[in-house]
Amino acid sequence: MNSKRGIHGAWSSRWTFILAATGSAVGLGNIWKFPYIAGENGGGAFVLVYLLCILMVGMPIMMAEVMLGRCGRHSPINTMRYLTEKAGLHGAWNAIGWLGVVAGLMILSYYAVIAGWALHYIGHMASGTFQGVSAEKADSIFNTLLADRNTLIFWQTIFLLLTVTVVIGGVTKGLGVAVRVLMPQLFVLLVLLLVFGYQQGDFARGFSFLFSFNYKALTWEGVLEALGHAFFTLSLGMGAIMAYGAYMPEHARIGRTVVAVGFLDTLIALVAGLAIFPIVFANPTIEPGSGPGLMFVSLPVAFGNMPGGLLFGSVFFVLVTLAAWSSAISLIEPAVAYLVESRNFHRITANLLLGLLAWVVGLGSVLSFNVWSESLIAGFNFFEFMDFLTSSVMLPLTGLFIAIFVGWIMRPQSVRDELSDESDRVFWLWRIIVRYVSPLAVLVVFVMGIYKTFS
Ligand code: PFF
Repeated sequence: MNSKRGIHGAWSSRWTFILAATGSAVGLGNIWKFPYIAGENGGGAFVLVYLLCILMVGMPIMMAEVMLGRCGRHSPINTMRYLTEKAGLHGAWNAIGWLGVVAGLMILSYYAVIAGWALHYIGHMASGTFQGVSAEKADSIFNTLLADRNTLIFWQTIFLLLTVTVVIGGVTKGLGVAVRVLMPQLFVLLVLLLVFGYQQGDFARGFSFLFSFNYKALTWEGVLEALGHAFFTLSLGMGAIMAYGAYMPEHARIGRTVVAVGFLDTLIALVAGLAIFPIVFANPTIEPGSGPGLMFVSLPVAFGNMPGGLLFGSVFFVLVTLAAWSSAISLIEPAVAYLVESRNFHRITANLLLGLLAWVVGLGSVLSFNVWSESLIAGFNFFEFMDFLTSSVMLPLTGLFIAIFVGWIMRPQSVRDELSDESDRVFWLWRIIVRYVSPLAVLVVFVMGIYKTFS
């Protein structure tokens, strides 16, 4: 089954892989979530723990995922099937592929809804809705949006259409071209916003908020949150990176590549924080730890009351949309690849079918913000439930299985052969981390996360 080049094509270079993986990694998690959870958990101390998690858990597991993908050269499901059959292992290990593909689609269902808000806000911002607006007014605009399911469904649909349009184009012409166009734009926009925040906002306060080492504010839950976020932000445990690894050139060095992706993802999260907080602090009525509202309520207020805010506010939401877009394509690609390989689907049909599936499931999230807001599953509304089930259960579990599979189950020689371009030192360091440190850390996160939630 495995061949040097899979049936879906390959990235034109190692650099395209880096852009694609970074495109997948950088998304709502970096621009919206990271800044506020860092703020809530003691700023600098949290950032330090988060960096450690990226380094000791995220990057080693990412390296394992890319390696598995490149070894199998197929969708995560068939890659795992190939590897387990080749090694004569129990078929239960294929669950790594299945869990990942299903989690990806589940995440896409609600990711498209939130990305739809960002799309909607581009028009709001550009048309001047937020000019001179008060915090109360911005709050009511946001709540009006949440109550209006037709508008939510409209933007969710547009975002999913954007996503499948790219993925239909295939790996080289669709995904490869999209990331080469989108990612540089995203970097430029972010730098522009950073400059804007520096000039117009309270940069010193924003900086110290994000980097002051307030150890007292860091709790055990904060540490768990940092580890969980490391998974989400690097797109791990979902087959996304494994699928992208399958399209990687044969002799590209995985270690270096993964370091580049992890570095870029972290850099963008930090720069996003440095761009957002100075703007937030320029407006004294805004709460820095206001969670989901930070991006959709507080930031519009900040932009609406600043010189140049109309332009830069619109630019900001374009940026968020681009980041979410390049992440969403990686959420659907593993399932598309599977349907094309194993069920003889045409890429177009596979995309439309899976897009429709994500759309239908996403309706549950849309409704959970209005008519279903009181309907709870285990104490969560539908959107929260999907988020919890994927981020807190499926991703850590798949990540744990990947670490165990690569560190303990696969023959060490097969792993070494696949990573033959790495130096001995890099290989052994990685192997020790992936055998001991990563699984233990993930196990702790998983057990504690479930315990905290249901106790
Ligand atoms: N890493 C993305 C973010 O930080 O927003 C989210 C994501 C994308 C998760 C793709 C998983 C994935 F497969």
